[in-house]
Amino acid sequence: MDEVLVACKQCGNLLDVAYDWDRLAVPDSLDTFEQRWSRRNDPQCFSGVWRFHDLLPFAPRRQCVTVGEGQTLLHRSDNVARFAGLNPGRLHLQYEGMNPSGSFKDNGMSAAFTHARLVGAKRAACASTGNTSASLALYCSVTQLMKAVIFVGSGKIAYGKLSQALDFGALTVQIAGDFDDAMARVKEVSSRLGIYLVNSVNPFRLEGQKTIMFRVLEGLAWQVPDWIVVPGGNLGNSSAFGKAFLELKQLGLIDRVPRLAVINAEGAATLYDLVERRGLRWNGGQPDKSIVEKYYREMDQQKRRASTIASAIEINRPVNLNKCLRALEVCNGVVRPVSDQQIMDAKAQVGAGGLGCEPASAASVAGTKLLVAEGIIDPDESVVCILTGHQLKDPTATVAYHTADQDKFDEVLAVRGVHQATFANRAISVSNDLDEIIKAIELHS
Ligand code: F0G
Repeated sequence: MDEVLVACKQCGNLLDVAYDWDRLAVPDSLDTFEQRWSRRNDPQCFSGVWRFHDLLPFAPRRQCVTVGEGQTLLHRSDNVARFAGLNPGRLHLQYEGMNPSGSFKDNGMSAAFTHARLVGAKRAACASTGNTSASLALYCSVTQLMKAVIFVGSGKIAYGKLSQALDFGALTVQIAGDFDDAMARVKEVSSRLGIYLVNSVNPFRLEGQKTIMFRVLEGLAWQVPDWIVVPGGNLGNSSAFGKAFLELKQLGLIDRVPRLAVINAEGAATLYDLVERRGLRWNGGQPDKSIVEKYYREMDQQKRRASTIASAIEINRPVNLNKCLRALEVCNGVVRPVSDQQIMDAKAQVGAGGLGCEPASAASVAGTKLLVAEGIIDPDESVVCILTGHQLKDPTATVAYHTADQDKFDEVLAVRGVHQATFANRAISVSNDLDEIIKAIELHS
């Protein structure tokens, strides 16, 4: 706890937070957590992360850092259910875009900042496809506990996210390369300069992200759904979700775990390729390393680099791969890839419901539709899709989908293999003339 480590000193693998539950006072029923909400004038109870402190008790309660994260919504959506082929009432969307920085990352950031404060860190760094960096920058500027240094791939992050980091005052380092290049560099730089690393190789991040599942259960009156569907990038979320259910089950707070579906973008489908096509498994904690090494060797030889409109999950080498394998094992999971076309259509359907999301998030809805079509999810099963980031994170993708300007559409979407915008809501162009404007409104409304 008083060291800054992102890998095991002996084997170099990821570290995991393990609790000695026998020495901790854990509530014997989940609705204890609901009662905390009635004390929400206390920031520790207001936080949707620290309200569940008993389930991530790695730091004293009063040391926990919060900026008011985790006030998120579980929303029943029958329209999106219909789109995905599910029966009414069977689909819920978990809106993590409602977090202070507009993505689920704030759940983990509050936990990483808590540990960083315990060890007295003064600077924190991350590599990012944009949301981790926005979250880090926000926590630094709100708490003033540390200075933010962020590494991003040049041209690889959506404008909403970049604008946050700049506005919040983070030192922003644009690397000529992609996320994986930035990730490799930030690890080197952090260890050389003694900067606290907040990427999800940091095990405390994942502790915070477990609480997304606690809030989903709370939103369902503590009923366990049949499926959790989540986009997969660096695989921090999926890993954290698996750990959350494993621990709840061990503690006797739930009697069954949901199934987990991790959805890759087709252009960034490392997990899918490894698990579903090459048979990589958790294997009691000893995944076959040679399968992974061979895959990455081929990737390098063929100069294959991740490419998707869902820039948040445009990742070649997911750092939490091993932990995600554990989650897939615990939750009898499946992995599927979806195309950018499927992602953009699903995103438009989510947006039409009024609480929109960014492209990567919509992979969860596109993946659900695919799994229903494959007969793996039954139309009557209950499904929760995690909408990881806010609609305004990536306005370029949204405007391009809805535009009537073919050049703009082609520039952003056709290059990604998106050729149709079935659910587009196109603006109408009209001359600056009252009669023409009225005629157009009458015609279209
Ligand atoms: N959705 C969004 C909106 C994200 O920003 C990310 C990851 C993911 C899904 C994938 O989650 O890594 O837990 O599998 N964004 C990281 C970042 C990589 O740098 O912001 P994951």
